Amino acid sequence: MGEKKVIEEKEEAMKIKKTPLVFAVNGERFELDLSSVDPSTTLIDFLRNKTPFKSVKLGCGEGGCGACVVLLSKYDPLLDKVDDYTVSSCLTLLCSIDGCSITTSEGLGNSRAGFHAVHERIAGFHATQCGFCTPGMSVSMFSALSNADKSSSHDLPPRNGSSNLTAAEAEKAVSGNLCRCTGYRPLVDACKSFAKDADIEDLGDEALKNLPCYDHTKPTTFPEFLKKELKMDMSLESDPRKYRWSSPGSISELQGLLQLDNSMYVKLVAGNTSTGYYKEEKERKYSRFIDIRRLPELTVVRRDEKGVELGAAVTISKAIEVLREKENVSMLAKLANHMEKIASRFVRNTGTLGGNIMMAQRKQFPSDLTTILVAARATVKIMSIGSNVQEQFTLEEFLQQPPLEAKSLLVSLVIPSWRPLKNGSSSSDTHLLFETYRAAPRPLGNALAFLNAAFSAEVSLNATHDGVVVNDCLLAFGAYGTKHAHRARKVEDFLVGKVISDEVLMEAIGLLKDEIVPDKGTLNPGYRSSLAVTFLFEFFGSLTTNGLLNGCSKENGFESLKREAMLSSAQQIVETQEHSPVGKGIVKAGAKLQASGEAVYVDDIPSPENCLYGAFIYSTMPLARIKSIRFKENRVPEGVLGIVTYKDIPKGGQNVGNKGFFASDLLFAEEITHGAGEIIAFLVAESQKLADIAVNLVVIDYDTEGLEPPILSLEEAVEKSSLFEIPPFLKSKPVGDITKGMAEAEHKILGSKISLGSQYFFYMETQTALAVPDEDNCMLVYSSTQAPEYVHRTIAGCLGVPEHNVRVITRRVGGGFGGKVMKSMPVAAACALAATKMQRPVRTYVNRKTDMITTGGRHPMKITYSVGFKSNGKVTALDLELLLDAGLSEDISPLMPSGIQGALMKYDWGALSFNVKVCKTNTVSRTAVRAPGDVQGSYIAEAIIEKVASYLSIDVDEIRKVNLHAYESLKLFYNKKAGEATEYTLPQLWEKLDKFSGFSQRRKVVDEFNASSKWRKRGISRVPAVYGVSMRLTPGRVSVLSDGSIVVEVPGIEIGQGLWTKVKQMAAFSLGLIHCSTTSDELLEKIRVIQTDTLSMVQGSVTGGSTTSEASSEAVRICCDGLVERLLPVKAALEEKTGGPVSWDSLISQAYMQSVNMSVSNTYSPDLYSTQYLNYGVAASEVEVNILTGETTVLRTDIIYDCGKSLNPAVDLGQIEGAFVQGLGFFMLEEYLMNSDGLIVTDSTWTYKIPTVDTIPRQFNVEILNSGHHKNRVLSSKASGEPPLLLAASVHCAVRAAVKEANKQIQTWSNNQQGVDMSFDLPVPATMAVVKEFCGLNVVEKYLDWKIKQRKNI
Ligand SMILES: Cc1cc2nc3c(=O)[nH]c(=O)nc-3n(C[C@H](O)[C@H](O)[C@H](O)COP(=O)(O)OP(=O)(O)OC[C@H]3O[C@@H](n4cnc5c(N)ncnc54)[C@H](O)[C@@H]3O)c2cc1C
Ligand code: FES
Ligand code: FES
Repeated sequence: MGEKKVIEEKEEAMKIKKTPLVFAVNGERFELDLSSVDPSTTLIDFLRNKTPFKSVKLGCGEGGCGACVVLLSKYDPLLDKVDDYTVSSCLTLLCSIDGCSITTSEGLGNSRAGFHAVHERIAGFHATQCGFCTPGMSVSMFSALSNADKSSSHDLPPRNGSSNLTAAEAEKAVSGNLCRCTGYRPLVDACKSFAKDADIEDLGDEALKNLPCYDHTKPTTFPEFLKKELKMDMSLESDPRKYRWSSPGSISELQGLLQLDNSMYVKLVAGNTSTGYYKEEKERKYSRFIDIRRLPELTVVRRDEKGVELGAAVTISKAIEVLREKENVSMLAKLANHMEKIASRFVRNTGTLGGNIMMAQRKQFPSDLTTILVAARATVKIMSIGSNVQEQFTLEEFLQQPPLEAKSLLVSLVIPSWRPLKNGSSSSDTHLLFETYRAAPRPLGNALAFLNAAFSAEVSLNATHDGVVVNDCLLAFGAYGTKHAHRARKVEDFLVGKVISDEVLMEAIGLLKDEIVPDKGTLNPGYRSSLAVTFLFEFFGSLTTNGLLNGCSKENGFESLKREAMLSSAQQIVETQEHSPVGKGIVKAGAKLQASGEAVYVDDIPSPENCLYGAFIYSTMPLARIKSIRFKENRVPEGVLGIVTYKDIPKGGQNVGNKGFFASDLLFAEEITHGAGEIIAFLVAESQKLADIAVNLVVIDYDTEGLEPPILSLEEAVEKSSLFEIPPFLKSKPVGDITKGMAEAEHKILGSKISLGSQYFFYMETQTALAVPDEDNCMLVYSSTQAPEYVHRTIAGCLGVPEHNVRVITRRVGGGFGGKVMKSMPVAAACALAATKMQRPVRTYVNRKTDMITTGGRHPMKITYSVGFKSNGKVTALDLELLLDAGLSEDISPLMPSGIQGALMKYDWGALSFNVKVCKTNTVSRTAVRAPGDVQGSYIAEAIIEKVASYLSIDVDEIRKVNLHAYESLKLFYNKKAGEATEYTLPQLWEKLDKFSGFSQRRKVVDEFNASSKWRKRGISRVPAVYGVSMRLTPGRVSVLSDGSIVVEVPGIEIGQGLWTKVKQMAAFSLGLIHCSTTSDELLEKIRVIQTDTLSMVQGSVTGGSTTSEASSEAVRICCDGLVERLLPVKAALEEKTGGPVSWDSLISQAYMQSVNMSVSNTYSPDLYSTQYLNYGVAASEVEVNILTGETTVLRTDIIYDCGKSLNPAVDLGQIEGAFVQGLGFFMLEEYLMNSDGLIVTDSTWTYKIPTVDTIPRQFNVEILNSGHHKNRVLSSKASGEPPLLLAASVHCAVRAAVKEANKQIQTWSNNQQGVDMSFDLPVPATMAVVKEFCGLNVVEKYLDWKIKQRKNI
């Protein structure tokens, strides 16, 4: 750059008022007076509340979901270089972005400036459903693309339109982002479509043809104005007395700052990501924040022959880069590989090494970093600020010291170079071994480990060369429920000098088990200890026969243990043309808006003037009198306006929290709370942040005197007859004669038991509403609900006003899954009540923890059954007793038995007796979660079939087949729902899947694999699903405006299921029947489906039960027919006049001139019986279980699903995949646990693990069976929203098969054919800990014992 230009720029910059905090968002300059900024303000707070950029979504507030991810760009004026990386804006402090440029998804592209290729591809690959996660996904993908282009390791020129990204990197690009809807595969495909090595054919050439290319020559733009200011060194001016945020550039400056305040109230911050875990930190009041990331000593990166020194403020991402620079140093590369599994990329990009170590040192955080660094013999440099002296300790020593004082600083850490000990020898016989391990529910990270470990050892061949001797070793373990990373010193001492043998290993394991003992209260202690044994065995086991040193490690079968399979893409979209555009896989309406983040959700609606914010106060006691609600120290916190309770319900109103199905639930507990998690009150404050903070300062005084003990178990509920009534029409009906069926049986299993737990919805958008008081005692409420009509009724009932005083509007919902039917009502009602009381608008966006604690989730249940069957496995009778935990209120619980029975009857049980008790307990009220009851019913059926197969020792697939319905038995069990014989496609699907998935051949391959693999076992399983649905009364309205554009209103809510898209297609098809010169595809472009408004469209009922899209489409079809009827005479007259074809627009102009009524409302009122139908699907899943760790990899899933004539096969495919993956979560991962008082304790992204991209089937093939025409269905279509969820049971069954193989192997080691029970029931969810437990916590010891005995010929 020329000197003159530099001077000019400097002069220009001087003119700009120097202000402490300057940054850019999407190219727009923001300048804040630092003295007016609360330094605890996060970037997301600022973006969402003070800018128009709402694409940044709040999903968790703890760094665990990725919904809030933005791109942060930094400019280095000296190097004239821009670095950019993703960060979680919920953990990034606003003050820390001085001089940075932030790009959100709408900053990448938008509807006005044009969408970015990433947005277009997400839409084109059908990779968005509710769209709430999508802006975060877009930014993560974009960042992966731009970083791949910048990275020097990628020098291959990309193919035209693709980027330098590899397919493997594409998969990892979104590994930290959660999506509850799509099942991830389309997201990965969208990202992979940019990869230079992607198999384009696999992804679908056609899909790509119409999508824009990636322009890698266009990097992110860092605003020029900001560059100029940075060249002027516009760093934070730090007049420390004026500002509460400082960013010192030297240690002496830091010392000066620390002297200003009492150290208790000063917070040193680096990346601030620790507040994602220690959430209470966000609420602590600090007088000063000091950003330590500019201190040169803390940013040092030094490498010499002594080792690598990394400053404490070096981010984990940077450290990974540095450690990988010298690929030949394997220990450093292994450290880097392990670090890549810490959190997610957007956390590692700001989270520092020092921050992590300090969390571990001061607060015993279950760190990975400290464990692996202890094993690498790292040291740390500590500086006590007062003394200015640096001290050096080993990390191990440092961790054991008392928590570092607030005024002290961790300066850096040093990883020493590692040289052989033995006589300084570098003999080829001496080897340095280093390995790290972690067992966590997500292989690619974003999950804390159950246990982590890292071992280093120096070994050499012993003198006689027939064994390996340990010269030295260091064995570090952590995160298993211990205060700090722990060295197993007794084991180390024992091993040094020993030749590794099975006997030595056995003895070492014995010592290890005494040393690695989780602290009391740690979850799964036995599992964690067994992992320690596993890892020790893996490390040394390969040396027992000096295998590793000979270049072969097969002896103990470890060869296949570390593998990371890639996701492959495969999808089948079968389009039909008959009713075009119905039947086409057209892109989802609003998909690009969702990707860019412009789609508006309730919390994106700007707050009206004077708006207040609420937060729920809930009970933590199961049954207690509420004596008082007060604040700690009886001091009302800043910004709090009041607490709304049932006492605030206006005269004439009722304390109702929901209305719709059965008895209404309370909005607020009154004198007595009946369950932990029950809502007691609603605190109202000036901001959401203040409300959320203040709620934690509320104290509820309880009293249990004179009250019965709470009912916390199903058995207690039955004993005390604490049951909800099931209305007669919902009572389950027996099928056939159970006594006769039992008498016909040749075998019986009596009184067998199954238990099933709960599942949380985990919609990405938590519950939210905004209530705005209107004139004449009216109330306008924006609600994120699946049931606006019932929200409406609830509010009117609660406020005691006529229903016409209330209006509820819902445009779209960021994921519902049943959770926004009943559970959205109290949220909206509380806002409306508070708004009435305060006469100001009131809104709430419920935080993730409160949402998880108060909304309940699925019904836990216990099942006892007796089954009779013939010797060929044909069941003759099933007698089933079921206890259902409804929690403290009725909600929809009486509907559950019919759902359970409906799906259970997928097999011909001969005769069925089915008894359900809906128990009332003192726990949170349970509700409908996607496929409510059906998923449990379907699973119970599989568990029974598995039991029969085990009993008879017959292949379970045979037993399934034998018990599949013939059409006659189907009719017997399902009556009219069974439809006609031709509709019963299940047997066809069953056979087709065999060919489609190669099921029979693959079973043989699985057997071969199991025979040769010791530590990994495979299982494969095929299961059917039958799911009954029924259609409901549904209104609709279609209006044509004067320019020919069309507005469609339906009561169904777009929750991600593609309702708008199907409705649009149906409107285009139906209006196209007028046959003017404008085609249906052109008409499609003219249609807009608008928000649901309960005053505009009454009788809207509920979006749920999988049929709302169909019913809404049908309502719209009827309306369109009405319009066509009105328009046909106009068209005929016009054609006659013009003598040629008439375009839509001219037809509409003419109709307007003739004052034709261009709006038609009508209602689809199905006949209940003729419109009930059954859905069918079959899935086969193959899994691989690591029996040493309990980890399951779903290798492949094939699904064939009968969609009838799909209205939109792309949308339905997305529903099938998404539902399956949500089911996978239920069966394999998600534990929704309560404490002994019934309070939910898995209440965050830290403890509740939904599937991520690395836990879905590696190969996922879905075929939609386009079964034929049917007059009673909407254009012959079938439902797809819920039924496929049931098919995820195939994974669970396959895991059971694999575990069985593991047990068979143990039997052979035990020489005891009786020892292992093969008819075990594998619990749901089959988490890693569960799988390991069923494979044997002591499998390693058994194996070694067997080997030793074999050798000794015992
Ligand atoms: C979603 C999520 C998942 C995670 N998963 C894992 C995981 O699986 N394994 C794992 O090991 N870690 C995990 N972490 C932890 C993560 O590594 C740390 O949050 C991060 O490294 C902390 O760095 P920071 O710069 O953000 O620290 P900050 O939050 O800025 O600081 C943390 C604490 O240390 C103090 N501090 C920071 N630096 C210094 C210093 N140099 N001297 C003295 N005090 C200092 C601060 O005052 C503060 O009290 C996860 C974090 C998140 C948010
Ligand atoms: S909201 Fe920030 S990661 Fe979830
Ligand atoms: S589309 Fe990803 S959470 Fe809904």
